[in-house]
Amino acid sequence: MLQSTLPIMNEGDVPYEDPLDLIEEIERLKVEQNASILAHYYVDGDIQDIADFTGDSLKLARDATTISSSTIVFCGVHFMAESAKILSPEKRVLLPDLLAGCSLAESCPADKLREFQQQLRAKGHDIVTVAYINTSAAVKSLCDWIVTSGNAREIIEERVPKDKEILFVPDQHLGRYLMEVTGRQMILWPGSCMVHEVFSIQDLIRAKRNNPKAEVLAHPECPANVLNLADMIGGTEKMRKYVSSLRDPKTFLVATEANMIHPLRAIAPWHEYIPVPGIMADSGETCACNRCPHMARNTLQKVRDCLKFGRPEIEWQPYFAQAEEVLRRSLLS
Ligand code: 13P
Ligand code: SF4
Repeated sequence: MLQSTLPIMNEGDVPYEDPLDLIEEIERLKVEQNASILAHYYVDGDIQDIADFTGDSLKLARDATTISSSTIVFCGVHFMAESAKILSPEKRVLLPDLLAGCSLAESCPADKLREFQQQLRAKGHDIVTVAYINTSAAVKSLCDWIVTSGNAREIIEERVPKDKEILFVPDQHLGRYLMEVTGRQMILWPGSCMVHEVFSIQDLIRAKRNNPKAEVLAHPECPANVLNLADMIGGTEKMRKYVSSLRDPKTFLVATEANMIHPLRAIAPWHEYIPVPGIMADSGETCACNRCPHMARNTLQKVRDCLKFGRPEIEWQPYFAQAEEVLRRSLLS
C-alpha cells in the first residue's frame, strides 16, 4: 500500500476553518501589520499562492533584505527565518511554527563542530569551513563561507583559496556532489536531509523504464545513487528555470520534496511532473510522495495566528553578529 514516507504533523485537534476565510483574514492582517509573506517552494501550495515572495533558500534570504515591510512572516524552517533576521535585524521576523527545524541543521551542533575543527587544526590541517545554509546561526558563526544549492559551486570555485583544505558541513551528499563538480577535495560532515535520503532507487529505475522519454530532475541533497540517474541536478530555483526553458512538453521525474511540483506546474504547466517515490526506513514500503515534516508545520491557520498575535518571533541573539558577517559576505556581496 502506498503511504507517506515521513510523519506529517498530526494537527487533527485543530478545528477546521475554511481556507478562503483564512486567506481573507491573512490578507487583512498583512495590511494591518505591514507584513510580507515569504514562502519556500517546499511549503504547501496554498501558502505559496498567498505569499508575496516565493523562492529557494538563496532568493528568499536576499528578498528578505530588499522588502520595505517592517514584518516578515517566513513560511519555511527555522534556519531560514533566522538567516532573514540576521540579514535584516531591524525587521520583525515571524515563523509560523518554531518547531519547524531541519534534519541537516540538527546533525551539526555548534559544540561538535568547534571540537572537530580544533582536532583538524591540531593535526595540521589548514582548513576553510564551508557551511550549507541549512545550519544554525551558532554553526554559521564558526564558518568562513555559507553556501546554498544556488551559489555553492561559484563560492567554492571563486572564493575559497586553492591551497586551503575544505571542511564542508553538514550535507555529505551535497558535499560529495560539489567535490565532483569543482574537483576540490573536501572533508565531509556526515549529515543528510531526511527527505532526500529516502528515495527508492528501485522505483526510480522502474519509473524511468515506464517513462523512457522522461528526464530525472534531482536536488543535490540526494545520495549519489539517485544523482547518477539524473539528467539535471540542481536546487529548487534551478529546477524552475530549467523546466521553463524547455518549450516542448516533456515528462519529468522529480527527485525532491513533493511540494516542488506546485511551482514547477505554475511556471511550466505544459509539462508533466511525476514525484519519485520514497521508501520507508522501518517497513520498506514505498510512498506516493516525499514531504518534509518540518515544512509541513506551516499551515494557513498558523500563518494567520502569527500575524494576529505577533509570535513566534525570531529574537536577536548576541552570537548573530558573527553569523551576520559571514552571511553578508557569502550571500549579498
Ligand atoms: P533550495 O531551495 O535552496 O534548493 O534548498 C532546498 C532545501 O532543502 C531547503 O531546505
Ligand atoms: Fe531540512 Fe531536508 Fe526539510 Fe530541507 S527538506 S528543511 S534540508 S529536512
